[in-house]
Amino acid sequence: MSRSFNLAVLPGDGIGPEVMAEALRVLDTLASRSSITFNYHHELVGGAAIDAVGKALPEKTIKTCEASDAILFGSVGGPKWEKLPPNEQPERGALLPIRKHFGLFANLRPGICYPALTSSSPIRPDLVEGGFDVLCVRELTGGMYFGQPKSRTTLPDGDIEVIDTMVYKKSEIVRIAHVAFKAAQLRRKHVTSVDKANVLTNSVLWRETMIEVAKEYPDVTLAHLYVDNAAMQLIKAPRSFDVLVTENLFGDILSDDRAMIAGSLGMLASASLGKPKGDGLYFGLFEPSGGTAPDIAGMGIANPIAQILSAALLLRFALGLEKEAVQIESAVKKVIDSGLRTGDIFSNAPGTKKVNTKEIGDAVIAAL
Ligand code: IPM
Ligand code: MG
Repeated sequence: MSRSFNLAVLPGDGIGPEVMAEALRVLDTLASRSSITFNYHHELVGGAAIDAVGKALPEKTIKTCEASDAILFGSVGGPKWEKLPPNEQPERGALLPIRKHFGLFANLRPGICYPALTSSSPIRPDLVEGGFDVLCVRELTGGMYFGQPKSRTTLPDGDIEVIDTMVYKKSEIVRIAHVAFKAAQLRRKHVTSVDKANVLTNSVLWRETMIEVAKEYPDVTLAHLYVDNAAMQLIKAPRSFDVLVTENLFGDILSDDRAMIAGSLGMLASASLGKPKGDGLYFGLFEPSGGTAPDIAGMGIANPIAQILSAALLLRFALGLEKEAVQIESAVKKVIDSGLRTGDIFSNAPGTKKVNTKEIGDAVIAAL
């Protein structure tokens, strides 16, 4: 049976285009050996779109995404656009509106510390010995990122007051809880919910709701941590986590924390899932979580693995191509085991070799 899929490809800024090129080469290799066809629809987003058409999220980009089976996203932002009004900048003008527009509420960030990469982790070797695997489930369309009111006012006395509002509806907590518990059922059956229930009203409801939803998953254990303690436990005992579920802002912070402990931000893929399509699949946006890395953009040395693994997540969650997703993931693991490293994960360990973006892409393709 031949299958054809439409993918919206939004490389964005900084290292986005160079790592995207490697992910597409990997997908092309899979397609060339099967009856699968990927139709890529390249569109502008972020700073690249501002420069070309004056707007971070052009209408045409949204239309293409709407007409596609999934979005493969690079990354947006950079110093060049930081002086623009906040709502016109690449992050607040493009990435956040896309998340909201498509209702991408569930952000899955799998964080595997490969045993061969433990020497790239900045924390003590005995703490990461043998590697670890923590899945962050971050709520992505609520909380302080989107809550209203948001304002900046100059007061009569000349002082300046700024307001961001943290808002959650119980229904939003319930749906992300189900995502976390369902994911845990396929893993080691343990969920750690992270909140600040000793201070925030939001977190009290968050915790109550997690406890309530947990009753529907008797095979999964649930633990709670305050966010400050969670940040510490991730560093002290990363292996004690299985699935970590938390609200938008805490998830933003903790997922970078967890990624770095695992070796590098350049390894961290993510899936932002919206409405289920009914057949166990979701419409979603798939992107590396590491950002645009302006300091090394254009040099061809960025780590393309997060982008390649994001493409694997796209195959799994949006297209139902589980076998092909596993093929990519195994190929990446082989490449890591073979000792090839981009600069971000190169630690001079015996048997390793520093290579560039394209060489990693070539190696993954060869390992497929
Ligand atoms: C992420 C990023 C974004 C976020 C930025 C670019 C708006 O840091 O995906 O983690 O804060 O969500
Ligand atoms: Mg972030």
